[in-house]
Amino acid sequence: GTVLPCVLYRNAAVLARHVAAEVADLIRQRQSEGRQAVLGLPTGSTPIGVYRELIRLHQEEGLDFSNVVTFNLDEYWPMEPDSVHSYHRWMRENFFDHVNVPEENIHIPDGQLSRGKVDRFCAEYEKAIAAAGGIDIQMLGIGRTGHIGFNEPGSSRASRTRLVNLDPVTRRDAASGFGGEENVPLRAVTMGVGTIMDARRVIMMALGEHKAPIVRRSAEDEETAEIPASFLQAHPNATLLLDSAAAAELT
Ligand code: F6R
Repeated sequence: GTVLPCVLYRNAAVLARHVAAEVADLIRQRQSEGRQAVLGLPTGSTPIGVYRELIRLHQEEGLDFSNVVTFNLDEYWPMEPDSVHSYHRWMRENFFDHVNVPEENIHIPDGQLSRGKVDRFCAEYEKAIAAAGGIDIQMLGIGRTGHIGFNEPGSSRASRTRLVNLDPVTRRDAASGFGGEENVPLRAVTMGVGTIMDARRVIMMALGEHKAPIVRRSAEDEETAEIPASFLQAHPNATLLLDSAAAAELT
């Protein structure tokens, strides 16, 4: 397959500024056209700097989020939105509490539905993305398994928003935050690979040496469901943004 375009940054702060600037440009462009900007959003350690910079642009430079619509990638299941572990809470604390995205424009997978209600919710999440006009910019981190969202190895290119099982490696990586692997949920609700591939622009970010092996495989190996991030090689407008540690194993 084609090789995923990669851009290397001096450090995480510079990378974050570039991503935030691209997002801000989209928001302002759409504002000038009287249209909404639709963002697909990740949680985790990787995008923290981007959120921080977007908050700074709002507070210091007046960047207005009133025309922004957001769809988060994923949420643990089961998960109460007020739990310290929930991605709902994470997004409020790290972003939404500090900017002016209208409450009704914020979408995050619901982790508190009963098993019988999840599938319908997922179908409606897909419909809501389509009704918003599709995702303009999808930001992504990457897990050590090669997951994007929580699309773990084995996820198909065509997968849509659904309930999934978390990989043991992913649960181990989350263990410290949960006070032990046994406390990490077994499952999550995530946008699918197909949902992500439908975004008009995909910005995947990876920071740190622990991501270097999966970055190399995602960007250079054949596309395979064993490395869901590798599907992005076929996306017409996806870029992998890296710090030097994460880029260390690229050939
Ligand atoms: C989070 C998500 C995950 C993370 C990935 C990397 O919403 O969808 O795919 O992006 O697990 O996590 P960090 O950035 O914490 O290394």
